[in-house]
Amino acid sequence: MSSLLITGGAGFIGANFVHYWRRSHPDDSMVVLDALTYAGNPENLAGLEGQEGFRLVKGDIRGFDLVVSLMRDHDIDTIVHFAAESHVDRSIHGPDEFIDTNVVGTHQLLKAAKEMWLSGSGRPHRFHHVSTDEVYGSLAPDDPAFTEDTPYAPNSPYAASKAASDHLVRAYHHTYGLETTISNCSNNYGPYQFPEKLIPLMLINILNNKPLPVYGKGLNIRDWIHVEDHCRGLELVLEKGAVGEVYNLGGNSEKRNIEVVKTICSSMDDLFARDKDLAKRCPDAPPAQGEPSETLIAFVSDRAGHDFRYAINSLKSSRQLGFLPEINFEEGLAATIAWYLDNESWWRRVMDGSYRDWLSIQYGSLD
Ligand code: NAD
Ligand code: DAU
Repeated sequence: MSSLLITGGAGFIGANFVHYWRRSHPDDSMVVLDALTYAGNPENLAGLEGQEGFRLVKGDIRGFDLVVSLMRDHDIDTIVHFAAESHVDRSIHGPDEFIDTNVVGTHQLLKAAKEMWLSGSGRPHRFHHVSTDEVYGSLAPDDPAFTEDTPYAPNSPYAASKAASDHLVRAYHHTYGLETTISNCSNNYGPYQFPEKLIPLMLINILNNKPLPVYGKGLNIRDWIHVEDHCRGLELVLEKGAVGEVYNLGGNSEKRNIEVVKTICSSMDDLFARDKDLAKRCPDAPPAQGEPSETLIAFVSDRAGHDFRYAINSLKSSRQLGFLPEINFEEGLAATIAWYLDNESWWRRVMDGSYRDWLSIQYGSLD
C-alpha cells in the first residue's frame, strides 16, 4: 500500500491519472495538491471527493510548509508531480508564471521531499516528475526520434521551464540521493483536456461554428498519445523504473497538424450524418446545416519559434518496462470526440472567464 501526493491532479493528465490509479490501486491513498488555476477543475475528480483515502487540497506547490505538512500528515511515500503551467502559447505571451510554477515550484517540492524523506534514517520513497518531449527541441523531417540521450534544446519559455525542472530533479538525485524518476512524454489527448489545446479547441469550435485556427501551413508534426496510455506508462515507471532514470513515453503516432484537424472535421461530419439529434443539440455546427466542417479551417500567423516536429523513441521504456501504447489515434480520437459531445456542460463551464479573456487576446481577429 502506498500513499501518493499528486500535484496538479485536478488538471487534464493529473485527473486522468488519479482516476486510473484509483481503479488499478484501490487500496492506495491519494492526496491531490492543486492550485486550481484556470486549468484545474475539481469537477475532473468528480466521484472521488468524500471517498476514504482521497483528499483534494487547494494549494500551491510553491508552499514549502504546506507540502511538508501534507507529506507528514498523510505519510506520503510517493510524489507524482504533474502541476505546471502547460500551454506553450501562454508561455510566449507571459513567461513569468511558467518560471514561478514550473521551476521555482518544482524546486520547493524537491526541497520538501528532501526534508521529509532524507533527514533522519531515510525511508523508501519516489519522486516522479512528469515531463515533456519539448525539452529536446525540434526535429527536421528525417531526424531520428528523441531518445533519452538526445541533448536538451528547449525552444519555448514553457519548454525551457520544464527542462530546468528536469535538471533540478536530476540534481537532487545526483547530489542528495533523492529517489527520482523522470518521464518525457509526447502530445496527450483525451477527456478533461482544457480547450486551448489543439484537439479540444478544434472540435469545440466546430460545434460553435467558430474558425479553426491552424498555425502557419499546418505542416508541423506532433506524436499523439492517448492520455490513458500515458497513465499506463507512468504506472510502469513508478512500479518498474530504476531510480535516477529517465524514460521517454510516446504514442508512435506522428501526424501533421492539418491532418489532425481534417480528421476531426470528417469525424464530426460523419457523426452529424449518423445522428440526427446532434443537429438539434448543436444547430450552429456547419454539418448541422449540411456544410462540411472543413469550411471553418483558417490558416493564421504561425506560433513564434514554433517547433517543427516532435517524435519519441520509446524503445528504452518498452524494453525495460514493457511499455507500449495500446490506443490507436483514430479510436482514441473518436472516443475523445464522444466524450466532449457527452460533456458539453463541462467544457462550457471551463470556457467561461479567463479562457475567454485569453482567447480574445490571442484570436481577437477571429472571434
Ligand atoms: P494542465 O494545464 O491541464 O494541468 C495543470 C494542473 O496544475 C492544473 O490542475 C493546475 O491547476 C495545476 N497547477 C498549476 N500551477 C500550480 C501550482 N503552482 N501549484 C499547484 N498546482 C498548480 O496540464 P496537463 O496537460 O495536464 O499537464 C500535466 C503535466 O504533464 C505538466 O507538467 C506538463 O508539462 C506535462 N506534460 C503534458 C503533456 C500534454 O500533452 N498535455 C505532455 C507531456 C507532459
Ligand atoms: O509535446 C508535449 C507537449 O504537447 C506538452 O508538453 C504541452 O504541455 C502540450 O500543451 C503540448 O504542446 P503543443 O504546443 O504541441 O500542443 P498544442 O495543442 O498547443 O499544439 C499542438 C500543435 O497544434 C502545435 O504544432 C501548434 C498547433 N496549433 C495549436 C493550437 C492551440 C494550431 O495550429 N492551432 C491552435 O489553435
